[in-house]
Amino acid sequence: MRDVAIIGVSQTKFGELWDKSFRDMITEAGMGAIQDANIEGAELEAMYVGNMSAGLFVQQEHIAALIADHAGLTPIPCARIEAACASGGLALRNGIMAVASGYHDIVISAGVEKMTDVVDPTPMIASASDQEWEAKQGVTFPSLYAMMARRHMYEYGTTREQLATFSVINHANASKNPRAQFPMEITVEQVLNSTMVADPLRLLDCSPVSDGAAAVILCPAEDARKYTDTPIYVKASAQASGTIALHDRKSLTTIDATVNAARTAYNMAKMEPKDIGAVEVHDCFSINGLLAVEDLGFVEKGKGGVAIEEGMTQIDGEIPVNPSGGLKARGHPLGATGIAQTAEIVWQLRGEAGKRQIDGLEIGMTHNIGGTGGTAAVHIFSL
Ligand code: COA
Repeated sequence: MRDVAIIGVSQTKFGELWDKSFRDMITEAGMGAIQDANIEGAELEAMYVGNMSAGLFVQQEHIAALIADHAGLTPIPCARIEAACASGGLALRNGIMAVASGYHDIVISAGVEKMTDVVDPTPMIASASDQEWEAKQGVTFPSLYAMMARRHMYEYGTTREQLATFSVINHANASKNPRAQFPMEITVEQVLNSTMVADPLRLLDCSPVSDGAAAVILCPAEDARKYTDTPIYVKASAQASGTIALHDRKSLTTIDATVNAARTAYNMAKMEPKDIGAVEVHDCFSINGLLAVEDLGFVEKGKGGVAIEEGMTQIDGEIPVNPSGGLKARGHPLGATGIAQTAEIVWQLRGEAGKRQIDGLEIGMTHNIGGTGGTAAVHIFSL
């Protein structure tokens, strides 16, 4: 196996991008990453695109070929990777495996979703849950995560204020991120008074409905300095599956796929949670951000709420979480998220994160979840 490096990254602005089509967004992200890597498009040997549901959101299937064609990259071999909201994380992982194995040298892994063209995206998003046992009974993603939040509050005494603080920190970070969908600062009171979505989760506990795309370029680590003075090295690429439906779980307050993927990643990188300097976690709802802080091993199970309240996850805290603003405030175009998380950690490691820069970061992690934990991808990167 060869070591792999990232030599280029890019992300479009996330938001309601009425003036940009599905193919415009992914091409913009891809071109940005190609320019960032100082390569020509013709040097790319393969393309993997994370996308959850172009079929339901924009009635377009066969998207990898569509993108290759629109971007002028044919006859590049290309494939769409789907794992609900973890599609981007798995597109990255497939790119890493292609380079590590020696099958390809320069690979682009990207992600894209256009969610705002439909009147009601909720049933499309719910298709990532168990249709027979959950969605068709009327359950939605906010309500699934609301049940997990209720249970965490019951088992560990987690408070509404602690959950709200997770969103407040995300928005503070997003206010320094020009690519974020909701770059406004908010307060705990505003979260607690925002519209109820699924009790106990309110509007400001939820990631938004978003359009956007992101891309990264990978190559063998030994070649990376030909392209850039600041290659970022992939130290671990791990994935695990878990139960799709909540009722099959032993616990509603642990996402086993995260625990298992994290264990594999730490073993692969020969690292422990204390070695990680910053992490982008999958906070599609505030409770999932809190669960991630616990399940990735940064605090003991049940202690996430207190840790967040005490400032541990702030940008200048012990373990900065979501310097980009996270899914909550940077935005969550489903298939693009895992790649956007990677771009943020790369910018942070290179020292290119502007006003939200974490001083002296050497090792960063990304955590990308599909559904309520049917899939988890965890990656570790270093300077
Ligand atoms: N955070 C902050 N503000 C938000 C927001 C969010 N998550 N979602 C919408 N808004 C704002 C809008 O900008 C709009 O503001 P305006 O009135 O000033 O223009 C207002 O709230 C209403 O927006 P609207 O689009 O009508 O909201 P909605 O009620 O249709 O949708 C949610 C709100 C929370 C239901 C929707 O964002 C949602 O479903 N989020 C979860 C997405 C999801 O499940 N992703 C997958 C997770 S695994």
